[in-house]
Amino acid sequence: MATQTDTTKKSMSSGAKALIATTGGIGLGISIICAAFVAPAFRRICLPYVPATAEQIKNVLHFLPRNGNQVRLLDIGSGDGRIVIATAQQGIKCSHGVELNPWLVWYSRFAALKCGVYPNTRFFCKDLWRFNLKPYDYLVIFGVEQMMDQLENKLILEAPHSKVIACRFPLPNLKPVKSIDAGVNTVWFYNLSENNTSSSRQI
Ligand SMILES: *[C@@H]1O[C@H](CO)[C@@H](O)[C@H](O)[C@H]1NC(C)=O
Ligand SMILES: *[C@@H]1O[C@H](CO)[C@@H](O)[C@H](O)[C@H]1NC(C)=O
Ligand SMILES: *[C@@H]1O[C@H](CO)[C@@H](O)[C@H](O)[C@H]1NC(C)=O
Repeated sequence: MATQTDTTKKSMSSGAKALIATTGGIGLGISIICAAFVAPAFRRICLPYVPATAEQIKNVLHFLPRNGNQVRLLDIGSGDGRIVIATAQQGIKCSHGVELNPWLVWYSRFAALKCGVYPNTRFFCKDLWRFNLKPYDYLVIFGVEQMMDQLENKLILEAPHSKVIACRFPLPNLKPVKSIDAGVNTVWFYNLSENNTSSSRQI
């Protein structure tokens, strides 16, 4: 039995050797490139860089007004800028992103330039917890579970009349007005002023 397993292992490893040699080389290259992008995820409470899927972007755009001339939008933790660029392409004239990782910020600016929406976008290299949300009507957030409580407080405090589009995780206490239920691509839409109106009506 033992010898049989040994031979199986041996033949497997020799067969896989060439594959490992090639993929291993590529894998190492990829991890070195990615290290620069992922590293800030290990700082205090930050958003890891996980790019939005095409389905998630579609669901976010669904909740934005078609005529977005007057709309000011912020993507919190904008990563490689794909949400900001997509919303700018849909006609939002003032589409901003805040992202801690300077590499991603520069990448985003370059991507916006390439996509022809640079004048309607801005990318701030800042800590989201020190970034004032007050000027924005629409806030997009691809969150992580541990930060949603703190973020909800920040939203209510700084942008009590904004609309919030949350992906991956809902806000823990506020009730969404609408949602698109699609598993990992689920998107929740909050109208903070609506919540405010109804809560004051109840009192
Ligand atoms: C409701 O609106 C008031 C005044 O604009 C604001 O001070 C308050 O924080 C808001 N509350 C919520 C829950 O949004
Ligand atoms: C408004 O927000 C509060 C939490 O701040 C929540 O308890 C309440 O259910 C919300 N009301 C509506 C109508 O969404
Ligand atoms: C949000 O709520 C306010 C107050 O109820 C309402 O006037 C506004 O049309 C709502 N906006 C959206 C996009 O649902």
